[in-house]
Amino acid sequence: MSQNALEISGLRKTYRASGRSAAKEALKGVDLNIPRGSIFGLLGPNGAGKSTLINILAGLVTKSSGKVRIWGFDQDENPRQSRAAIGIMPQEPNLDPFFTPRGSLEVQAGLYGVPKAQRRTEEILELTGLTDKAEAYARSLSGGMRRRLLLGKALVHQPQILVLDEPTAGVDIELRNMLWENVRRLNEENGMTIILTTHYLEEAEAMCDEIAIINHGEVITRDTTANLLGRLDGKTMVIHPEREADIPDLPAGISAMRRNDGALVFTYRSSETAAESVLAAVRNAGISIRDVKTEEADLEDVFLSLTSSR
Ligand SMILES: Nc1ncnc2c1ncn2[C@@H]1O[C@H](COP(=O)(O)OP(=O)(O)O)[C@@H](O)[C@H]1O
Ligand SMILES: [Mg+2]
Repeated sequence: MSQNALEISGLRKTYRASGRSAAKEALKGVDLNIPRGSIFGLLGPNGAGKSTLINILAGLVTKSSGKVRIWGFDQDENPRQSRAAIGIMPQEPNLDPFFTPRGSLEVQAGLYGVPKAQRRTEEILELTGLTDKAEAYARSLSGGMRRRLLLGKALVHQPQILVLDEPTAGVDIELRNMLWENVRRLNEENGMTIILTTHYLEEAEAMCDEIAIINHGEVITRDTTANLLGRLDGKTMVIHPEREADIPDLPAGISAMRRNDGALVFTYRSSETAAESVLAAVRNAGISIRDVKTEEADLEDVFLSLTSSR
């Protein structure tokens, strides 16, 4: 059996045009394998296609083409088994305002066909810190409590894979820490595979063993967090051209973006590329340099250079 929790190949999604909005190609052929037992981060800016991917896994969005295997089960050929293997905490709260947390968890367990005797409603209320609010209507819960309940709902059928779509976007630090702690515990104690999407670098760094960066519907890089951080031997060179200039052709190992103020920003690894290579490429393009400075890069720069140059 495959050692991957998730195997995605050639995944595409085009949202159809409707009303005044044009058709949108949200996923452009994503290939991604995620190993069992990992905490995997899907990192990308808003609009990158993260939720589209997650919602396809959840069965909420129909893919245009491609293959998805969840815990070894093909999503189309074995819909029941593949759905049972995965629990999803969606980005958008989809709670029925007239259910209480206890009621919501019971209904969710029922939807997944979990027999009454095997339900873990009280345990999940405890885990998510909702025991005190177990009988409050969802509409009276604070935003943070709704998030907790969404996490709880994703766990009712004891899935092997837990997916969290932007779990901490807009939440306070206390809730963020509680979510991080829960997620780590589920991974360590239950061996649950965790997949989370985020547009916070900090979160991906703190939580994930491996990170895929997604932008404009494509996975543009995928590496262990340690390796991505290893790119911190990176440098940034900011060149202000004398006159407006486009990004020149560059040798491998240097990426570039053009800032709004017209400056060209180059990132490269100082262990592999000499500053002279950047300067040579700039001169070869006939760009005269008004000013130049270098800085140490951080992960933010790596991310920006990866996501803005395409
Ligand atoms: N239901 C939809 N109909 C049309 N376009 C959509 C729909 N959902 C998302 N999109 C578009 O698809 C792209 C990817 O969106 P999304 O998957 O939500 O990105 P992310 O979660 O990374 O912010 C965006 O351009 C978004 O506007
Ligand atoms: Mg999203």
